[in-house]
Amino acid sequence: MEGFWKDDIELANDLATVRERMQEVVDNSHGFIRKLLQTQVNSGGKMLRPALVLLSSRLGTNPRKEQVLKIASILEMIHIASLIHDDILDMALTRRGVATLYAKVGAKQAVLAGDYLLSKAISMIGSNEDNGVKASAVANAFSRLCESELDQDAAQNDFFISKSTYIRRIAGKTAALFALCCYSGAATADASEHQQYLMHRFGYAFGMSFQVQDDILDYVGNEQDLGKQTGRDLQCGIPTLPLIFALEEERRRGPKRPLAALLTDRGSHLNNKDTAKAVSYVIQLGGIERATAVSDMYRNRALRDLQSVDNAEVAAKLKALFVKLINRPS
Ligand code: FPP
Ligand code: MG
Repeated sequence: MEGFWKDDIELANDLATVRERMQEVVDNSHGFIRKLLQTQVNSGGKMLRPALVLLSSRLGTNPRKEQVLKIASILEMIHIASLIHDDILDMALTRRGVATLYAKVGAKQAVLAGDYLLSKAISMIGSNEDNGVKASAVANAFSRLCESELDQDAAQNDFFISKSTYIRRIAGKTAALFALCCYSGAATADASEHQQYLMHRFGYAFGMSFQVQDDILDYVGNEQDLGKQTGRDLQCGIPTLPLIFALEEERRRGPKRPLAALLTDRGSHLNNKDTAKAVSYVIQLGGIERATAVSDMYRNRALRDLQSVDNAEVAAKLKALFVKLINRPS
């Protein structure tokens, strides 16, 4: 996984340190919690969020390596905890092809293990106050994550949501944390206020583009590469952008609306056959192309912000990340 970053030895080494820091937290916990969380902090994720913290910190005048590594570890721990909880909410049995904690130990233990990791992350922020990133900024991103997930869950199986509802949800569940990662690195290393602001904007647009792409892959990704089934969002009653656009197009075309009818009739119990049918309608109705255009719009916005970043080398690295991630299998 750190191989993803092999072009930048310093970054790869720093990410290995972040992983060690998280490992230490888990190693110092009670035996049965250690057993639950060990594979979670070592589960082969790309470490994208800490990489954003580390790269953004290169815009600063004061490296503050220790504090940067610490905030990078905190934000990755919050991310891992959110995925543990997300897999419970989605009843997902695998993630990146590996059994989820929910699948292994059930919802009760998984939710508590996620809470434990979260509490450790929060206790680490306490001493970070005077180093650029305020606890309130982390708390704000965290509460936005929860708000968006709650909003999504409260409206589960309501497939007929507006584009703006979707945009608000993904801003909270993904872009807020990306924005915080980019801002935190720059702020901790004393980058100028303007650079901090730019990095916040960049992280937000990057997160939006990334999540729309993730939602597209849920329709057209390769199941083996993704490590999960396609059509999973539909089966979980979660409408995303390809579906929103497809329903819009179907309405525009006239009164015959087989996709809307399928979702209305079978909404909360889509079996595999229904799901495959709905996925194919979404593709035929051009949902993927239009969602891709939105992902590209955010991507271009992020790249435009990078043009104003002071350090051309950092800007080039962040740009290269896009290319890698947009072609990503998972
Ligand atoms: C993955 O989205 C999920 C998130 C990005 C956020 C999940 C947040 C919570 C469950 C709120 C609780 C937060 C904490 C910190 C405990 P997805 O389901 O679209 O993506 P996936 O395909 O990777 O599952
Ligand atoms: Mg999920």
